[in-house]
Amino acid sequence: MFYRLLFAALFRRMDPERAHRLGFGAIRAAAAVPGGARVLQSALRPADPALRVRALGLTFPGPFGLAAGFDKNAVGIDGLAALGFAFVEIGTVTARPQPGNPAPRMFRLPRDRALVNRMGFNNDGAAAVARRLAARRDRLAGRRSAAPAVILGVNIGKTKAVPEAEAVADYIASAKLLAPYADYLVVNVSSPNTPGLRDLQAVAVLRPLLTAVREAAEAAAGRHVPLLVKIAPDLADEDVDAVADLAVEIGLDGIVATNTTIGRLGLTTPADEVAALGAGGLSGPVLRERSLEVLRRLRKRVSEDMTIIGVGGVTTPEDAAERLAAGATLLQGFTGFIYEGPFWAARIHRGLRRRMVQSGLRKESNR
Ligand code: FNR
Repeated sequence: MFYRLLFAALFRRMDPERAHRLGFGAIRAAAAVPGGARVLQSALRPADPALRVRALGLTFPGPFGLAAGFDKNAVGIDGLAALGFAFVEIGTVTARPQPGNPAPRMFRLPRDRALVNRMGFNNDGAAAVARRLAARRDRLAGRRSAAPAVILGVNIGKTKAVPEAEAVADYIASAKLLAPYADYLVVNVSSPNTPGLRDLQAVAVLRPLLTAVREAAEAAAGRHVPLLVKIAPDLADEDVDAVADLAVEIGLDGIVATNTTIGRLGLTTPADEVAALGAGGLSGPVLRERSLEVLRRLRKRVSEDMTIIGVGGVTTPEDAAERLAAGATLLQGFTGFIYEGPFWAARIHRGLRRRMVQSGLRKESNR
């Protein structure tokens, strides 16, 4: 309620990228107050063992995590975890630092509770992000009574200035630097804002890319680093099937489905207003149906033990439950965080737990 009023009064009138910086700054500040992250986390993190998910060789305290793009540079992982996300995926990080597209490059469609963005992988580059992750690791190791460390996904993409023919080497450079800090690694070949990136989803290109990244990641980390690929909702059904088959063939650990769409169907915002925003990826509830469809298609083709992270339009606990029932192992969201506010992840986990109690899967109700 409070967030809705704040959103209506302040954030809604502000440039969305500025509002994001301000909101994220507040989250980081709250987490930086001594004991702040711990207090928040103890109130908001999924605590019921019934919500736990075993996947990728890890135990997630709950199924719902923060999708890539919110914390591109790994500057606020612990603040975000304190808000109740069971895992946080940082990035997309590219091998070289790059500024992204000129602003404005992020737009709200409040009537649809949607976003359009063409950020273009603005980020500090893999070396700087790796240094930040190393410093965080040292900080956490030095703390005696630290809250449980959050599961960290690292999402990597191609540097814009690098030609497609050299894409594999570019991803490898990022994987080498970042894999040592990653609980899992995601190869992003599906953002619509880097020219040519989505062509890497073709299996003939994807196969050598994924196998090379896996080799580099494991050599650098000295352990198995679970590897996933993130795909676009705009793939044709046959191409979704082809990615699923490839994932099985090469023994990939999982698939993240889906990224934003370049489509503009299903919106209630007038078409001319939408067109005036220009190019970019669309996210939010309008994406729900196609993301769900892609998930169902994938789950039919891969075995039970392959992890699928369902993302795209998950906004309510009902959406979350539907996605899990459709075969998602884990879930993520981004756009709902902007419209629903800081307690969104905790609400999703609480709602999922309530459904378990109601359906008899969970007996006692103590929260
Ligand atoms: C994104 N997303 C994204 N994905 C990714 O793999 N790398 C990235 O850098 C970004 N950046 C990004 C920026 C902004 C502003 C948005 C809104 C989204 C996509 C995101 O992770 C997710 O896949 C989609 O937004 C769909 O989920 P939601 O937003 O409908 O919950």
